Amino acid sequence: MTATNVGTSLGSVAPDSDSAERAVLITGGAGFVGSNLAHRLLGDGHRVMILDNLSRPGVERNLAWLRDQHDALEVIVGDVRDASVVRTAARGAGRIFHFAAQVAVTTSLDDPVTDFEVNARGTLNVLEAARTAERPPMVVLTSTNKVYGALDDLTLRREAGRYQPANPTISRWGVDEGRPLEFHTPYGCSKGAADQYVLDYAHSYGLPAVVFRMSCIYGPRQMGTEDQGWVAHFLLRALAGEPVVIYGDGRQVRDVLFIDDLVEAFLALDGNRQAVTGRAFNIGGGPGQAVSLLDVIDTIPALGLRRPDVTFEAWRTGDQRYYVSDTRAFATVTGWRQRVGVAEGMSALHRWLAAFVGGRAKTTRDHVDGLSDVVPLAGAVGGNGKTGAGQMHGQLPR
Ligand SMILES: NC(=O)c1ccc[n+]([C@@H]2O[C@H](COP(=O)([O-])OP(=O)(O)OC[C@H]3O[C@@H](n4cnc5c(N)ncnc54)[C@H](O)[C@@H]3O)[C@@H](O)[C@H]2O)c1
Repeated sequence: MTATNVGTSLGSVAPDSDSAERAVLITGGAGFVGSNLAHRLLGDGHRVMILDNLSRPGVERNLAWLRDQHDALEVIVGDVRDASVVRTAARGAGRIFHFAAQVAVTTSLDDPVTDFEVNARGTLNVLEAARTAERPPMVVLTSTNKVYGALDDLTLRREAGRYQPANPTISRWGVDEGRPLEFHTPYGCSKGAADQYVLDYAHSYGLPAVVFRMSCIYGPRQMGTEDQGWVAHFLLRALAGEPVVIYGDGRQVRDVLFIDDLVEAFLALDGNRQAVTGRAFNIGGGPGQAVSLLDVIDTIPALGLRRPDVTFEAWRTGDQRYYVSDTRAFATVTGWRQRVGVAEGMSALHRWLAAFVGGRAKTTRDHVDGLSDVVPLAGAVGGNGKTGAGQMHGQLPR
């Protein structure tokens, strides 16, 4: 580290205007959250660079969609595990939204080493690229409610379709950031480590950096599977006329947040850099958008689809019976408010899924596989973790 790069206290955070005109780097920018944010930023006239290894099936279609509309988009097909690729991508960036991740608890249990390398080491690579930059960019990390563990100590009432906490404060407002950290599952550990590293880089090095601990986000461009993206997964099953497997009793509660509201939360960071730096915020739909898995299944007929048959399997490791975000801290600092209701959001997601994959898919598997039905990319990183030289956007499918 050079002494001129970063300060040693939060007091040294550069003003927002310092990075406003510089490019925005989005790691994992081809994914669900990243492509939605990229679309918004490009539409607002910002320069955007995406770094993504396209390892999530179907995300190349998100990239093709972005490129169709935005000539200014720059892309590196590369891996966040490769520090030199991350440094190259971060060069000149004023803000880094670090979304690239191994995103599922289930796959982290199958392969905890890869999970660690992508989520923990990959985040360290991003932080080092930011810390050693000539003008350190702001770093935004999307962490998870899983850092609070299984929340087994919450006393819950088992109501008809859902669990409800006995504690009146949690029932009214949700879980706040004062909740002790308790990492469960390899995914919880790797995301939790990333979360803590980001906060520490703010505290130890004065890097402008903030953490969003996110609940369930849903919306268009989400390639939901049984492992991650359950709202989209349920709808894909319903579109295919297939049953849904629920792990647990389906009464577990989450506060769902529509993607446009999350994008607004990212934009709300502008102008509030000093106030948010070094802090973690719980971001979700809050108590007003708290739904059980069974509640979501029950909304499906209102979309004109048959309610899917449901079968139940054993609870998954680390699954929380109840998690709802208390978003008051972020709202107080930035003025952000959640706006899109579940019915409206589900309808938008349904329209997108039906238009994008509904016509040609016969089964859920076809839906997801069909999303990958494009020209393979030279230089894309495979499952072996080896990275080719970053490929610039000439080689991407349209
Ligand atoms: N969607 C949610 O409900 C939710 C909830 C909490 C946290 N998050 C976090 O938000 C972020 C974005 O999630 P998402 O739903 O958009 O997931 P996503 O899978 O759609 O997007 C992740 C992107 O990262 C890319 N990627 C994966 N490994 C990579 C690597 N090693 N190098 C480069 N790129 C890589 C994938 O190809 C994909 O495009 C993730 O960090 C996730 O953990 C999401």
